[in-house]
Formats: sequence, structure tokens, C-alpha cells
Amino acid sequence: MKPPAPIHTARAVAHANIALVKYWGKRPGAADLNLPAVGSLSMTLDRLRSETVVAPGERDSFALDGRARAGAEARKVYEHLDRVWRASGAASPRPGCRVESINHLPTAAGLASSASGFAALTLAAAAAFGLELDRPRLSGLARRGSGSAARSLWGGFVRLDRGARDDGEDCLARPLYPADHWALRLLVVHTARGPKPIGSTDGMTRCRETSPYFDAWVATSERDLDDAEAALAARDLAALGEVVERSMFKMHACMMATRPPILYWNGATLAVIHALTALREEGLSGFATSDAGPHVKVLCAAADSERLAARLADVAGVLEVEAVDPGPDASVEVLA
Ligand code: PMV
Repeated sequence: MKPPAPIHTARAVAHANIALVKYWGKRPGAADLNLPAVGSLSMTLDRLRSETVVAPGERDSFALDGRARAGAEARKVYEHLDRVWRASGAASPRPGCRVESINHLPTAAGLASSASGFAALTLAAAAAFGLELDRPRLSGLARRGSGSAARSLWGGFVRLDRGARDDGEDCLARPLYPADHWALRLLVVHTARGPKPIGSTDGMTRCRETSPYFDAWVATSERDLDDAEAALAARDLAALGEVVERSMFKMHACMMATRPPILYWNGATLAVIHALTALREEGLSGFATSDAGPHVKVLCAAADSERLAARLADVAGVLEVEAVDPGPDASVEVLA
């Protein structure tokens, strides 16, 4: 019998991304494939990132931000290592791995920690296991850890295609434009502290099973993707902003109509959205999006971001406004 291949120590850095056209809902099929019901389009963020090291270990261990983790959180990481190991075609059982990850962003607060986290884990594990796959195929693996993670393998603007195949082989992400395509900025408007009340996987299942709007959400999303891609190509912020808000409102309407309802927003979320509408009438253009949490992310021209941030910081209930630029590709290096 061939002895198991040694594993290397590899370190990856992947940046968070925010969907401008949202992914919400899964296709029926093997749960492990994690097939999205709709495609999505995102902007990768500078600074907000996960750094992950995968190294040989006597047994599996996982530390996040310097603290050892067990239970469901660790299991998801080990299952993902298993996926990457199987993709390498190895017949032997996976050797133990030490995984250490640092999140330079708030974890599980609707700020896409799972996207950067699973993207970094996928890249680091693939390099540690000597798996030579191209990035689109690696994005398919990352998707199985977390749908949005597929988009964090590239910087700039990225599209994740829904695909049609039951095996998910055509459900891959692809880069559209690099970060310097367009001087946009995202203002992350914090409206609460702490983790979100319901995770995205449970929320998506509830939506598919009980929301009367789910089918309409799915039926209209391809059009949104194409409109957003055209607006990106033309660098037309008003057109892009219109699609960004449309996609967000449809996703949250779909969530709110579930039984029991899912309401991620708080009063400050709505106050920010209203403020943006009023500011646009003054000629200061920012467009809202929000994910599985109460924060608002505002897409705007870099040149307007300081003025907008100052105005939004004054909205009642806003805790903090952080400006983030489009970010770079994920990177990986083998350390030993
Ligand atoms: O990748 P997940 O399972 O965390 O789901 C992400 C869902 C949203 O953030 C709400 C939308 C998106 O496309 O990122």
C-alpha cells in the first residue's frame, strides 16, 4: 500500500466580499454540494479578511482568533478538510490537521466571515494537501463550505454562476473585473453588536419551505445579475445602485414572509435606508444592501464616501461607519 502523502504547512489569506446581487436559497439536491438556487455578484473587500494556516497535527484541532474551538464550529472545518482531501484523490484517510485562523472582521454578524473563512480554508488545505486545481474548480470546493466563499477567491468584482447540473460542476465563480476597475467604496454601517439571531443556512431552508415569495425571488434573479453586470461594465452607479437595492429588498421581503418570519433588520437599519433616499435627493448618492444581519452596507463613489459617512454617522442608532475599498485576490503560500 502506498504510504499517505505528507502534508505541508500552508497559509492563505482571503478577503470578505459583499454580494451586490444576492445569493439566498439552495437548490434541492445533495446537501453536501450546497447548490445555490440563484447566482450572485459581489465586490471583494479590502482589509476585512481571514488568514488561515493548515498544518500537520497529531489530531484535528481548530483555533479561531487564538481560541481553541470544538463542537459544530470545529466539525464544519474538519468536514471541509475532508472534502478537499477527497478532491485530491487520496485513497488513504486524511491525516490530522492543525487549523489556525484569524478573522480580521466581526465573526457571524452578517459581515461575511464565512465567505473569507471558507475561501482561506479551501486554499490553505488544497496547498497543504498538494491538490492542484485551477481557481474556478477551487471556488466550487469553497462553495461547498459556504456559498459566498466561492466569490472570495478573487478580488474586485466576481460572479458566481448558478449552473444547471445536479453535480454542481458548473456552479463556479469567475472574476469579472479587478479591484481597480472602478473607484467605488463600501461604507459598512454598524447598527448592532453581537452575532446574528438565525444563521443563513437555517434561514434559507425556512424561506424555501414557507415563503410564498421564494419562487418569484428565484425567477427574477438572473435578470438582476445581467443588469448588474451591464452597469458594472458601463461604470453606471445609478443603474448599479438600483439593482443592488432591488436585490436586497426582494431577498429581505422573501425572508420576512417566512413562517415564522425572519427579520434581520432593526430600527437603525431602516433609518439608514431612509436617510440614503433623502441624501440621494440632495445629490449625494449611496445605495443600500444588507445581508443576514442588521448592518447596512452602502455602495458609493469613492469621491463621495467621506461626506456620506459623516451624514450616516449622525443617523440615530448608528454605532460606527467604516469605509472599505474593493479588495485583492486571495493568496496562498506553502510554508513548509
Ligand atoms: O454563504 P452563506 O451561506 O453565508 O450565505 C450568504 C448569504 C448572504 O450573505 C445573505 C448573501 C450573499 O450572497 O452573500
